[in-house]
Amino acid sequence: MYQPVKIAPSILSADFMHLADDIAMIEQAGAAFVHIDVMDGHFVPNLTMGVPLLKQLKAATSLVCDVHLMIDNPLTEIPWFIEAGADLVNVHAEVLTEEELVRAVAMIHEAGCKAAVALKPKTPVSALAPVVADLDMALVMSVEPGFSGQSYIAGSDRKVAEAAALARAAGNEAMLIQVDGGIGEVTAPLVAAAGADVLVCGNAVFKAADPAAALQTVQAAADVARLTALAGGAEA
Ligand code: DX5
Ligand code: ZN
Repeated sequence: MYQPVKIAPSILSADFMHLADDIAMIEQAGAAFVHIDVMDGHFVPNLTMGVPLLKQLKAATSLVCDVHLMIDNPLTEIPWFIEAGADLVNVHAEVLTEEELVRAVAMIHEAGCKAAVALKPKTPVSALAPVVADLDMALVMSVEPGFSGQSYIAGSDRKVAEAAALARAAGNEAMLIQVDGGIGEVTAPLVAAAGADVLVCGNAVFKAADPAAALQTVQAAADVARLTALAGGAEA
C-alpha cells in the first residue's frame, strides 16, 4: 500500500517563546515526526538544545520524537536522550568507528528505540554498510550540519537513491530514508522521487507566512513526485 512521505519539522526554526503553539500547529497540519537538532559546539560550531527540552517536548506531543545528534560523543549521550523520551535516535557516522557504529545501533535498539545513521554531505553512502541491515532509517544531509536556512546541495538526491539501493541489497526493504537541509516545495520533489521517505523542514515550514499550509504544500509536492516515480518504475 502507498505510504505517503512523512514531514519532520525541525524545531530549530520554531519560535522558542511559543514552542507549544508551534508543536500544536505541526501536529494539526499533519507532521509525522518532530525533528530535534542537538548540536554540541564541537561536531558543529553551533550549540542548540538538549535533554531538558526533549523531556518537556516528549510530555507534550504524540509526534515521533526524532533526535538528530550532531555531537562528538554519541555513545556517552545516547542513554540520556533515550531516557528523556527519544523515539528515534540519529547518530553521525563521521564520529564513530565501524565497531562503535555497530555498538551505537545495538544500544539504541536494546533500549527499544529506532536507530538511524546520519551522513554529512561529503560522507559516502558506503559508511552505512556495517549497520545497514539493522537500520530503521538513514539520514542523508543535504546541507553541512550546523544551521537551519541553508540552501539544498544539488545532487543530494543521487545519494538518496544510492542509500535506497544499499538497503535493498542488504535485504532491508523497511529502512526509511530521511533528508535534512534546504528542503521545501522545490527540493522536496527531487528527493522524494529518488526514494526519500521522511523530509526534515526547518525554515520552509516555520518561517513561512502560513506554516501549516507550507507543511502541507511540501508534503503534497513530495507525494506527487513519489507517486510519479513509483508509477514510472512500475512501467519500466
Ligand atoms: C542542520 C539541521 C537541520 C536544519 C534544517 O544542521 O540538521 O535539521 O535545521 O533546517 P532547514 O530546513 O531550514 O534547512
Ligand atoms: Zn537535523
